Amino acid sequence: MIDDALEAATELLASSVMNYRGQPVGTVAAMDPAGAVAANYHDCFIRDFIPSALVFMADGNHAIVRNFLLTVLELRSQHKCIHGHELEPAMLPASFRVIHDLKAGETIRADFGDQAIGRVAPVDAMMWWVILLGIYRRMSGDRDLARDERVQRALRSIMDLTLKEGFEVFPTLLVPDGAFMIDRRMGVYGHPLEIQALFYAMLITAIELLDDKPENRALIDLSAKRATSLRSYLRFFYWLDLNQLRTIHRYQTEEFGDGSINMLNIYPESIPEWVADWLPDRAGYLVGNLGPGRMDFRFFALGNLLSILFGVTTRDEGARIMFLYSDRWPDLIGEMPCKLVYPAVTGKEWSFMTGSDPKNVPWSYHNGGNWPVLLWAFTAAALKTGRGDLAQLAIETADRALPTDHWPEYYDGKRGNLIGRRAHLNQLWTVAGYLFAHRLMENESLLDCFPQGPDG
Ligand code: GLC
Repeated sequence: MIDDALEAATELLASSVMNYRGQPVGTVAAMDPAGAVAANYHDCFIRDFIPSALVFMADGNHAIVRNFLLTVLELRSQHKCIHGHELEPAMLPASFRVIHDLKAGETIRADFGDQAIGRVAPVDAMMWWVILLGIYRRMSGDRDLARDERVQRALRSIMDLTLKEGFEVFPTLLVPDGAFMIDRRMGVYGHPLEIQALFYAMLITAIELLDDKPENRALIDLSAKRATSLRSYLRFFYWLDLNQLRTIHRYQTEEFGDGSINMLNIYPESIPEWVADWLPDRAGYLVGNLGPGRMDFRFFALGNLLSILFGVTTRDEGARIMFLYSDRWPDLIGEMPCKLVYPAVTGKEWSFMTGSDPKNVPWSYHNGGNWPVLLWAFTAAALKTGRGDLAQLAIETADRALPTDHWPEYYDGKRGNLIGRRAHLNQLWTVAGYLFAHRLMENESLLDCFPQGPDG
């Protein structure tokens, strides 16, 4: 049974490969059998390609990843001026597609968010690109690609952009709504956890990849300093367990200057009702977002899982996030790993936060839907914290449904037991996430390919 599923998934992945000038350069987002694929799902998305890349490299195919990394870089020449506003040249596209035209031949077109629904800029694309470059170097042993002058230039410009002084006093990165996997309005503007975990991994990767030349010295030092302060800040201010909740519950507010405890001026009245009953004593997690007077208490799975994987959390915190999973399994895993965000926002909160988005109604899509692509990150985080037992359970849940349901993009419902109302079938990151989760179970040492901060 499982062997059949793995074989079917491997075949799907192989048939999703996108070629450009005779070279494989990426994988398409979805290959819905009914042909009912949304216009941009023929694209290769940078973030969607990550699990595909991991599977290819686990199977010894490094060439496609190398081609992908270079292709994405070349696409930067397609930056254009939108409404008189020049895009930041370090920005990488959200996705790209190959266009076949009888007259013009084969061309490739990038979407920098200027085409995407809601016109959102994909801040995560450049972060994933740097992280993937590091993973590629570790897995393939090819040290030349990162040394290539074009790659070094891109690295420098990405680091310059993200380390540039803004108007902020925090080490976290400020981004607009929908700048990452959740690419719609969902109240995720500000300092969303997922972006911070990716930012951290990008910083520690860049330190490794930037040539050790005098002209890079200042940038390397700055990246190292920022990585350290970012990680301490996330551990200190984003971490929530019952003890911390008790402290927040009795916070003094309006504290000025040195010696204040509630530095971000979080009002205890903003603690949502569900938190105190839901959070078990032995568990904890990193909150979804944090800014002046604002703590988003929702649990965002990918941000938490990547934080474990990249060493943003301490060992103890990682173990406690896994306790949250085991104690709240029906909420966070249910019938399909994993819930993207818990809990869903409803009623007026839903309409203010999403702009009344019918795709993001409660317990659907980004607003509390279950996304099978998260299985790879869950498996990796579970193995890293010594909870192979939880990884095994999650994979068995996916084994039961994914192949027969034809690899849906997402599931609906509190327990994630309904194929998403508007989910694409044969969604490639679902397929690749499933395959990589199995590869990890067979070979735990694949965990070594991920960037890893110093312990402590
Ligand atoms: C949706 C997801 C986004 C993904 C894209 C293609 O827009 O929100 O994260 O990259 O689909 O799968």
